[in-house]
Amino acid sequence: MSDFGSLLEGYDRLQQEMEILQKYGRDYRMERNRTRAIVERLHPKRLQLKVAELIEETYSTRTFRLVARNGYLPPFQAGQYINLFVNVDGLHTSRPYTISSSPRQVGYYDITVKRMPGGLVSNYLMDRIKVGDELESSGPTGNFYYNPLFHGKKLCFIAGGAGVTPFVSMVRETLQSGLDRQIHLIYGCQTLEDVLFYDRIKDLSVRHDGFSYDLILSEPHKGYGGPTGFIDAQFIKESLHGEKMDMFYICGPPAMKEFCAAELKKLGVPRRKIRQEVSPIYGDITQQPGWPEGLSADQTFTVRAGGREIEAQAGRPILEALERERIKIPVSCRCGECSYCRVKLLKGEVFQPEGVLLRESDRRFGYIHACKAYPISDIELLL
Ligand SMILES: Cc1cc2nc3c(=O)[nH]c(=O)nc-3n(C[C@H](O)[C@H](O)[C@H](O)COP(=O)(O)OP(=O)(O)OC[C@H]3O[C@@H](n4cnc5c(N)ncnc54)[C@H](O)[C@@H]3O)c2cc1C
Ligand code: FES
Repeated sequence: MSDFGSLLEGYDRLQQEMEILQKYGRDYRMERNRTRAIVERLHPKRLQLKVAELIEETYSTRTFRLVARNGYLPPFQAGQYINLFVNVDGLHTSRPYTISSSPRQVGYYDITVKRMPGGLVSNYLMDRIKVGDELESSGPTGNFYYNPLFHGKKLCFIAGGAGVTPFVSMVRETLQSGLDRQIHLIYGCQTLEDVLFYDRIKDLSVRHDGFSYDLILSEPHKGYGGPTGFIDAQFIKESLHGEKMDMFYICGPPAMKEFCAAELKKLGVPRRKIRQEVSPIYGDITQQPGWPEGLSADQTFTVRAGGREIEAQAGRPILEALERERIKIPVSCRCGECSYCRVKLLKGEVFQPEGVLLRESDRRFGYIHACKAYPISDIELLL
C-alpha cells in the first residue's frame, strides 16, 4: 500500500497526520456535521454566480469571468465543466461549459462561449448577458481530466475550435505549478480568426520547455504560411517528431473527434490511450446509424410523464420536450454520459444513438437517458 500511496501527491502529509491522530486520539463528537459541511462546500449542487468581466476572444467567442455571489467557488479538476442553468424567455434549460481558467485559483471561473448559428443558449449568453448579471450553475463536474496514476507524463492534446478550452485550463495548471508533465497541443481551426487564446498559448510554448504547440488551419487566408489541412495521422506524426506519448486527449466537434481518433489508430495508438470529451449531437439525428427507416424528424409522438401528456418530436431529445413543458428532471452533461437525466421507459420505444453510456442494469430494467433518447413511438416515462 505504501508504494501505491507514494504515487499520490500529498500522501505523506496525510499519512503523518493520521499517525498523529491515532497516537494522541481525537474526540470526533466535536466534528458533528463537519463532514457534511465540507462535502457540501466541495460538491455544491448549485452555484450562485455573477458575471465579473467579459473578455472578447474572437469575433464569435467571449470569455465570461464568473465569481461567486456567496464568495466561494469550489475547487475543480482542469478539464471539468459547469452546467449553466438559464431562463431564456420562459424556457428553463441548461448547457455545459468547460472552465477554461486554471484550477490553481478559484477566485473566479472563466467559461469561453462560442456563438453557435441557430443555437439558443450560446446566442442568449452572447447577446443578453452583461457584467453584473447573475447566473446559476451546477458545481464543477465531468470526467475529462488528467489522472496522475494512469495517464503518464507525456500528454498529447488534440483540439478543434472551442474544444481547446479544457486544454487551456490543463496547460495553465501544469505550467503555473511547474508540474512534471510534458504536453504537446495540436490545435485545428478553420481560419486564423477562429483560433482561441492564440497569443497566450504561443507565449506559453515559447517560455516553457515542457510545452509545445502546433496550429493547423483548414480554411486559411491567402498567403498563410503555417500548416494547412486537418489533424490527420501525418500531421500528428510530424508534430510529435517521433516522440512516444503516454496519453492522447481529443476535444472538439463530434466529426473532428471521430476523424482524429481514426487517424491515431492508423498510427498504432491503442484505444486505451485515447480519451475523448463527450459532445452533444448538433446535426440531423435521422442520419445516425440505426435510425428507423422512413421515420421523419418532424413526426410527433405523445409522451406521458409526471401525470401529464405532452407532445414530442421524433428528431429532438425527450429532455427538450420535458423542459418546454416545465417538467423538471436532473440534468448535467446533456450528452448521455453522466446519467443525471435517467428516467424509466414504461411503454413505447426510443432511439438512442451511439455514445449513450447506459449501464447494463439500465438496459435490463428499461432506463434511458432523456438527453440523448428520441421518441419513435408514443411513450410513457416514470420520472
Ligand atoms: C462537456 C461539454 C463542455 C462544453 N464546453 C463548451 C465550451 O467551453 N465552450 C462552448 O462554446 N461550448 C461548449 N460546449 C457546448 C455547449 O454546451 C452548447 O452545446 C453550445 O453552446 C450550443 O448550445 P446552444 O444552446 O447555443 O445551441 P442549441 O440550441 O443546443 O442548438 C445546437 C444546434 O442544434 C440546432 N437546433 C436547435 N434546435 C433545433 C431544432 N428544433 N431543430 C433543428 N435543429 C435545431 C441549432 O441550430 C444548433 O446548430 C460544451 C459541451 C459539453 C458537452
Ligand atoms: S444529462 Fe448527462 S446523461 Fe443526460
